[in-house]
Amino acid sequence: MLHRNPIVTKAGVDSGAMNLFDTPAGFDDPIGMWLGCHRRIEKQLSTLSKLPGHLADKGVDADASNAAQAILRYFEKSAPHHHGDEDRDIFPLLEKRITDAGDLERFRALRRQLEAEHERMAAVWARLRKPLQAIAEGLPKTLDPAEVATFREIYASHIPAEDGSIPELARRYFTAADLESLGRSMADRRGVEFPV
Ligand SMILES: [Fe+2]
Ligand SMILES: [Fe+2]
Repeated sequence: MLHRNPIVTKAGVDSGAMNLFDTPAGFDDPIGMWLGCHRRIEKQLSTLSKLPGHLADKGVDADASNAAQAILRYFEKSAPHHHGDEDRDIFPLLEKRITDAGDLERFRALRRQLEAEHERMAAVWARLRKPLQAIAEGLPKTLDPAEVATFREIYASHIPAEDGSIPELARRYFTAADLESLGRSMADRRGVEFPV
């Protein structure tokens, strides 16, 4: 029988199963794909937020280890790609393309804030990684609820700030050629072929 991990399934974390409404955008829709990453980050954060309580109740059991493995897989591999998409591709290209002086000034301030938050996320993640690795291996370990809360709080304002500004700026200022080169760069970062 298929084992269901209650921490993961309650959080609705991507189990590998997919329905039609879940089909992610491809690299030919780089902004759609980038937005999809935010939804996956939110799912992983929801799982992470349940973990300290679960550990306090039940200790490091199979569910806790499975949840820690899923969180690690995401934040060690996919999240750095996502930040690379932003810091190296989307943000610099927007800064080059925005022609309206007011938009540019607002975007520059937002970019500074978002990049500073990326650094804060990386610093908190560096403290969460080790205990999560131990839990993933089934070793007895707790997870500091304050660190988990801080990690979630940074994302709780960061993601809406990005969702609420970047797609509209991209729609107004990116050309079709920009979107294609963005998609190619994002595919390249992940070592996959750009769709033809
Ligand atoms: Fe970001
Ligand atoms: Fe983001």
